[in-house]
Amino acid sequence: MEKIRMILDCDTGHDDAIALMLAAAHPQIELVGVTVVAGNQTLDHTLENTLNVCSHLGIDVPVYRGCDLPLVREQLVAGDIHGKTGLDGPVFGPCTMQAQKEHAVHFLIRTLMESDGDITLVPTAPLTNIAMAMRLEPKIIPKIRRISLMGGAVGMGNASPAAEFNILADPEAAHIVFTSGVPINMMGLDLTNQVLADMQIIERMEAIGNKAGKLFGDMMRFTFHTQKINGLEAGPVHDVTAVAYLVAPQIFTMQPMAVSIDLSHGLCYGRTVCDVNGRTGDDRNILVGLGTDLEAFWNIVEEALRLLP
Ligand code: RIB
Ligand code: CA
Repeated sequence: MEKIRMILDCDTGHDDAIALMLAAAHPQIELVGVTVVAGNQTLDHTLENTLNVCSHLGIDVPVYRGCDLPLVREQLVAGDIHGKTGLDGPVFGPCTMQAQKEHAVHFLIRTLMESDGDITLVPTAPLTNIAMAMRLEPKIIPKIRRISLMGGAVGMGNASPAAEFNILADPEAAHIVFTSGVPINMMGLDLTNQVLADMQIIERMEAIGNKAGKLFGDMMRFTFHTQKINGLEAGPVHDVTAVAYLVAPQIFTMQPMAVSIDLSHGLCYGRTVCDVNGRTGDDRNILVGLGTDLEAFWNIVEEALRLLP
């Protein structure tokens, strides 16, 4: 079976790390590279976290340093959820990996232009790197097979009442990406708040008995306490859905909708305005995730963790 060639664009935090583990381990995926952006924490932290996870688990993939500030707005981080390092909880040994010298945006442009148009981008972070690449070299747009992103929400936000963090952290970048014409599936909070790593899931993954299972537990025990979704003590693994969609789209309930980014500087700044009922008559440009088969989802995660050290 032909492998799915993908680039992960992340701001490693806890759920990004699990998305990275799935992308690195799944037999159907060829992880071409990992680009890093500021988001959950400042870029120095998100890059260090990404390198630490790769080094800890022997994930041999080139990692590229990207943009450290949003395009227009002031920087927004999520230390309240992910801690002061952006990946509080696990303790890593000495890191044996270094970032590539090439900037992430240049890597994205070079790799996409050299490709046969068979690369999927999987952003699980603010869309700054992707937007910068599109503006620097618009010729990459027809070369992008699909963008499977974690971000946005049909309903309420999390970083503000109206906006989800990845979009609110760089709304202008999101606007560039969402209006690019590239096929996009948006795994928003309506879906991702369903994939909750509660204590039963944590203990299930720790019981695998390898480093990956223990890392899953060490990470999710931390966000177990920082995120209270629907009053439950559990941490949603938001970003993992954007990778899982590539290998098992059939387990997700998706709906095509016209989605726009609110760039007004009011209470709804950074909101993904989702035209659920087709009121605008606009092109239903985005495939929006609404639900998933949780048993199948967690089986995919467990099977991938079992393939890691
Ligand atoms: O709103 C959830 C998103 O914000 C996830 O990507 C998480 O890692 C944080 O970046
Ligand atoms: Ca993320």
